[in-house]
Amino acid sequence: MIRAGIVGATGYTGMELVRILLEHPGVRLTYVTSRTWSGRPLANALPGLTGWSDLLCREFDATEAAGEVDIIFLCLPHGEAMDTVFQLHSLNVRQVDLSADFRIADPKIFGEWYGPHRHPQLLTEAVSGYPELYREDITGAVLVANPGCYPTTAVYGLLPLAEVDLLDPRSIVVDSKSGVSGAGKEPRGHLHFPEVEGNFSAYAIAGTHRHVCEMDQELSKISGKSVQVTFTPHLAPLSRGILSTIYARTVSPLNDDGIFELYRKRYEKEPFIRVRSPDQPLPTLKDVRGTNLCIVAPRVDRRSGITVIVSCIDNLVKGASGQAVQNMNIMSGLPETMGLESLPLTP
Ligand SMILES: NC(=O)c1ccc[n+]([C@@H]2O[C@H](COP(=O)([O-])OP(=O)(O)OC[C@H]3O[C@@H](n4cnc5c(N)ncnc54)[C@H](OP(=O)(O)O)[C@@H]3O)[C@@H](O)[C@H]2O)c1
Repeated sequence: MIRAGIVGATGYTGMELVRILLEHPGVRLTYVTSRTWSGRPLANALPGLTGWSDLLCREFDATEAAGEVDIIFLCLPHGEAMDTVFQLHSLNVRQVDLSADFRIADPKIFGEWYGPHRHPQLLTEAVSGYPELYREDITGAVLVANPGCYPTTAVYGLLPLAEVDLLDPRSIVVDSKSGVSGAGKEPRGHLHFPEVEGNFSAYAIAGTHRHVCEMDQELSKISGKSVQVTFTPHLAPLSRGILSTIYARTVSPLNDDGIFELYRKRYEKEPFIRVRSPDQPLPTLKDVRGTNLCIVAPRVDRRSGITVIVSCIDNLVKGASGQAVQNMNIMSGLPETMGLESLPLTP
């Protein structure tokens, strides 16, 4: 049994990790932290756990954590995780960090988007946590930087085209719609029910959302070209899910059958990426709710020649905690799908 811990267990990604890890047959959850709930049962903070877990929340202590876990998940806000990662790293604890603190490899680019990094020497140690791309590196990693939620839809939505150098690198538009849990648990005025319910809004448009630098980094690495994505996120009146509609020009013409075949072949051995063919229905958020799946549907607009890809995930599962557990499985030598084979919650 792998002993696992969660720092920030009562936030949205932490809660989702608790749910997945308590049902994981290869894991024992031994250590959970929360500043707010320290000293009290986790089931007080998350009443749905009553009868399922008698764990107590602790105040984070690196030495205590190092003695009680084989691997630890960090579910802290960005900027807050890096010192904790540094402390645990010096105690040789294997970590999966769900924040953005170690996702951007170049400290200069990190600084432009997030401010100065306090432990830049660790950026080169961190392995990018896209399992479908970096499985071998993840196997031996001590620190995995779990991907961002929006970039997960963009990277898996474009990977087959980027890998065979078919993408025009300046033509990519990622238009994403997200549920409100993507913003975390902390209450803020624009996230309150009367603001969100019956509403729909764009935000951080025109290259101002931080996730765009992760999309650029990953797609540039894959294609070997300097990619610059135009990204528009939207807030939808839903609790969870991200559906991205992605537009891109290709350097040579494709049709629906050709692009489907390219995606089918690239993903045929991937347990968590599903490709919808031209004669299947387009994916919806209910098809991925509660699952670790990313479902992609690639098509070509016959009139303009522009490629249109629908890519959707549950932001808390494949976009965060599920992908983190997939990474833990790989790091620990467990079957990659272990604990992650749930079917969608539908309707
Ligand atoms: N939500 C998503 O869909 C999603 C997807 C991918 C990645 N992420 C990333 O995952 C991380 C966690 O996201 P989340 O949505 O779970 O956030 P959240 O709901 O706001 O939870 C964060 C938790 O961290 C704890 N915490 C510890 N130190 C803190 C500090 N200095 N300031 C504020 N909170 C602190 C808080 O619990 P206590 O105050 O009780 O300690 C809080 O419950 C973030 O970096 C986020 O960007 C989120």
